Amino acid sequence: MTTFWSLYVTVLSLGTIFALTWLLLSTRRGQRAEQTDETVGHSFDGIEEYDNPLPKWWFMLFVGTIIFALGYLALYPGLGNWKGLLPGYNYLDTDKQTPFANGQTGWTGVHEWEKEMAKSDAKFGPIFAKFAAMPIEEVAKDPQALKMGGRLFASNCSVCHGSDAKGAYGFPNLTDADWRWGGEPATIKETIMKGRHAVMPAWAEVIGEQGVADVAAFVVTNLDGRKLPEGAKADAANGAKLFAANCVACHGPAGKGTPAMGAPDLTHPGAFIYGSSFAQLQQTIRYGRQGQMPAQEQLQGNDKVHLLAAYVYSLSHGDKQTEEQ
Ligand code: HEC
Ligand code: HEC
Repeated sequence: MTTFWSLYVTVLSLGTIFALTWLLLSTRRGQRAEQTDETVGHSFDGIEEYDNPLPKWWFMLFVGTIIFALGYLALYPGLGNWKGLLPGYNYLDTDKQTPFANGQTGWTGVHEWEKEMAKSDAKFGPIFAKFAAMPIEEVAKDPQALKMGGRLFASNCSVCHGSDAKGAYGFPNLTDADWRWGGEPATIKETIMKGRHAVMPAWAEVIGEQGVADVAAFVVTNLDGRKLPEGAKADAANGAKLFAANCVACHGPAGKGTPAMGAPDLTHPGAFIYGSSFAQLQQTIRYGRQGQMPAQEQLQGNDKVHLLAAYVYSLSHGDKQTEEQ
């Protein structure tokens, strides 16, 4: 902050506090000391005002807030470039005199957070490291690891995959046996570490609107073994030709998918993340899709991702796993 803005903030803040103090004291000065039945003389829609002094508790409360504000501004950084008097915030670790990561001193919310993170890293770091050295399948059986992994999942993954990890529209279910990128422990870890970007091209321009309907009909009837809705104008036989010409490169000749490029199995409509109705399929094929799983390597680091991978793996491989999938 430049000196100008620092002064601006300081003068404005302190000025407001002093002005309020003056207002409080000056209104109190002119008032009578005792309770009275007299009114101040005016009436609004029949409502009148007693000419009583400010209640003592109210006055003291107001004085209290002023004192609190001044104390707060002295202890914490609130006035421009003033860093605050409170000791202990200047260094991350007073014994080692390590400055904060960004080299600054003084109290800020960021420094507080860094301090807490450093504390928790010191406490949990060795536990994370212990699990990181174990194979993911082993970690997935450890109750403590799963508890920690579950917490990491709740705070970092549930926004998209749901708190039960069962996914939502556009976000895959992580508790079933269907994997778009592969369900091996190492693959799951790779997915979380590096993130994934799926690219399903748009087909409307290539095969035309009728082609989209035909190939969607082929997916519904041949790959999924379902029926088309009444009155659907689509030729699944032509769709089969279009599929062989345009889709097998990624989804495979039998439509079973290619995990290396995140092209999903199209024979299992229950696992479609963009909907499996005839209309929804056409929408997907017409415009294409671009699902993105954000990389966690920078955010979480290897050890936490290892725990997360174990947690995700456990969701479809633990005791809780049902046989239905
Ligand atoms: C270049 C590779 C590629 C080609 C070619 C391709 N797809 Fe895809 N397809 C993908 C990928 C990758 C996804 C996953 C998209 C995502 O997750 O966002 C996908 C997703 C889909 C989905 C959605 C599944 C779901 O989970 O909702 C359908 C349906 C589909 N493709 C059908 C087709 C059809 C029909 C064709 C041929 C006309 C085709 N795809 C051609 C790569 C391809
Ligand atoms: C911003 C939303 C978002 C967040 C946050 C997110 N994911 Fe994802 N994730 C996705 C999407 C979208 C996909 C599917 C990508 C695709 O279309 O193939 C995905 C895919 C995955 C897959 C692959 C599933 C499969 O079938 O192969 C795994 C595993 C996964 N996520 C785990 C996680 C974990 C663990 C976290 C928390 C660290 C997380 N995700 C956080 C959006 C998210």
